[in-house]
Amino acid sequence: MTPFDGPSATPASCAPGTFLGDVVVGLGSAPKRLSPKYFYDTAGSVLFDAICDLPEYYVTRTETAILERSVAEIADALGPCRVVEPGAGSSTKTRLLLRTLGPARCLAYVPVDIAGEHLERSAESLRAEMPWLTVTPFAADFSTDLPSIEGAGRTVVYFPGSTIGNFDPEEAKRLLARFRRAAGPDGLVLVGVDLKKDPQLLHAAYNDAQGVTAAFNKNVLRRMNDELGADIDLDAFHHYAFYEPNEGRIEMHLVSARSQEIHVGNHVFPFHEGESLCTERSYKYDVAGAAAVGQAVGLTLVREWLDDDHRFAVLLFRA
Ligand SMILES: C[S@@+](CC[C@H](N)C(=O)[O-])C[C@H]1O[C@@H](n2cnc3c(N)ncnc32)[C@H](O)[C@@H]1O
Repeated sequence: MTPFDGPSATPASCAPGTFLGDVVVGLGSAPKRLSPKYFYDTAGSVLFDAICDLPEYYVTRTETAILERSVAEIADALGPCRVVEPGAGSSTKTRLLLRTLGPARCLAYVPVDIAGEHLERSAESLRAEMPWLTVTPFAADFSTDLPSIEGAGRTVVYFPGSTIGNFDPEEAKRLLARFRRAAGPDGLVLVGVDLKKDPQLLHAAYNDAQGVTAAFNKNVLRRMNDELGADIDLDAFHHYAFYEPNEGRIEMHLVSARSQEIHVGNHVFPFHEGESLCTERSYKYDVAGAAAVGQAVGLTLVREWLDDDHRFAVLLFRA
């Protein structure tokens, strides 16, 4: 069966929104494209944590520095609340916020992530570190599924790590609208946004010398082999990432080193030499642009915290 077969040939396991379904649609499109959410299983989450520690990856270091400097102010602005974090990963930066909110102000913490096993491990380590904290992990795709939050007190949707950048601006609006609804009428949405900057810095951040980002990029191919029975030679694809200044985004690709066919179950996908599979777009904003995305869906920017070099912004929106 080819990706161009009609729907009647599509087995249930190939349903839209499943890994196989999205691979069939994405690799059957021109140009080929896949959602970055498929980087993340346990191995992908560990690789992402390693990226956060790289000297070239200013993103995590800068956002952490903003938090370290302003966390007391941020906690005061949130007040007593339940914190829901879509795409929580290892909740590394969040620990700082949760500790500063403390037992009096943090009513509960609900980390949400697509990498369920990694999420559970991270929740266990949080409980050990902060025994007073109620941690309720929710393994789900946050773009389609968020936990329903009930009980007294305000809900804060915390979305750090520049994950918002992985969505095209229209998708980002839809996502923020979902977060606004999840936060409720009195809710707040706190977002970490990577800002536009010298393209050389951006280029270095996504092309580290140790090749960790390349391994992270190829993790999606490894997952296709392990989980979907694909036969991909990982050495036959090269990591390629660049900044596209007109679109204001990093693009991450896997470029075919040769003319080849890859098989995913019964599906065949031809690649010509130099053809790419786009695995991630990471949009960079300025504060006004990010505020406009929020404003379009009824979120008003009420506070902003930036580092001295204006590389990254932590933005607080009110519903
Ligand atoms: C860029 S990392 C950020 C991790 C962490 N929040 C931070 O600030 O370092 C993105 C995280 O979101 C998760 N993720 C990506 N897409 C997702 C989706 N659609 N649904 C749920 N989790 C997702 C990944 O597993 C990963 O943990």
